[in-house]
Amino acid sequence: MKKRMLTGLQPSGALHIGNYFGALKPALELAREYDSMVMVADLHALTTLKDPAALKANIISGVKDYIGAGLDPTRTVIFQQSQVHEHTELAWIFECLVTVPFLQQAHAYKDKVAKGLEANAGLFNYPMLMAADILLYDTDIVPVGSDQRQHVEYAREAAMKFNLAYGGTFKEPKEHILESVSIVFGTDGKKMSKSYGNTIPLFGTKDEIAKAVMSIVTRMGGITPANVYSIHLHVRCEVYDPKADATTFNKLYADNKNNYKFLKEVLIEDLEKMIAPLRVRRDAVSDADVKRILKEGSDKAREQAAAKMRDVREKIGVTL
Ligand code: TRP
Repeated sequence: MKKRMLTGLQPSGALHIGNYFGALKPALELAREYDSMVMVADLHALTTLKDPAALKANIISGVKDYIGAGLDPTRTVIFQQSQVHEHTELAWIFECLVTVPFLQQAHAYKDKVAKGLEANAGLFNYPMLMAADILLYDTDIVPVGSDQRQHVEYAREAAMKFNLAYGGTFKEPKEHILESVSIVFGTDGKKMSKSYGNTIPLFGTKDEIAKAVMSIVTRMGGITPANVYSIHLHVRCEVYDPKADATTFNKLYADNKNNYKFLKEVLIEDLEKMIAPLRVRRDAVSDADVKRILKEGSDKAREQAAAKMRDVREKIGVTL
């Protein structure tokens, strides 16, 4: 039997090429190898987003982005957290097994509160809902960014606590840390991140992409201009055969090391080559397609989650 992979996506706005190379692409490769599930964490989004129209729009566009980037809904179960009620039910049960001081140690919670986000109880209990997401489906591996490593540890802890209290029920999942493989630098040379405002959008228009590329700060050192080169290398490897092209590519930079504008123009063209097919695939997905995919996915997920919860309810003593 194939091993199970599950990951969650926060429906939180436009993807950039750093997300694509650092997280999305490696996760999509894993999704092809594993029995895979991708969940839209819409209930988690509620911890910070209280705008119904924006949440709806983000759910739809998030799924389109993933499909555009290569997620195949015929091979991966794509579903919506809020449509499988077993998640919140199991989260409650885990909350009764862990202590407040234990949850207080969560970096993500502390960071968000330090940044000024409201310390609502949902934000505090976030890790137990995430544990439920993962554990309901006997997940083996959870591809996540390094910021989510501790949350997967919390899921293991929840599994252990439950198994100890009520007998073996949940598999202990392992995190698979993305990003560590390939960090993409942003237009200012820092790690590309929405919070730094230094991104190149993945599904932007050609103009938006060009504007972002033209704003890349050129910096000396290594192969010049270093920032342009490091971003370009990711894109080149995606568009051309990296082995065959390495010499041509390095020569391009050597021959034009003072002509930043020209190199940026080549980068824009290569980005366009890379993104055009993703954009076509994304544009082919209608809102109605997304709703149908999520409905079918949620029905499938619910079947498994319901079976797991029957066992859990027996074990905790609420089934008479
Ligand atoms: N917390 C994750 C994030 O912010 C999203 C998420 C929710 C998730 N549930 C999950 C990730 C379950 C992996 C597995 O990125």
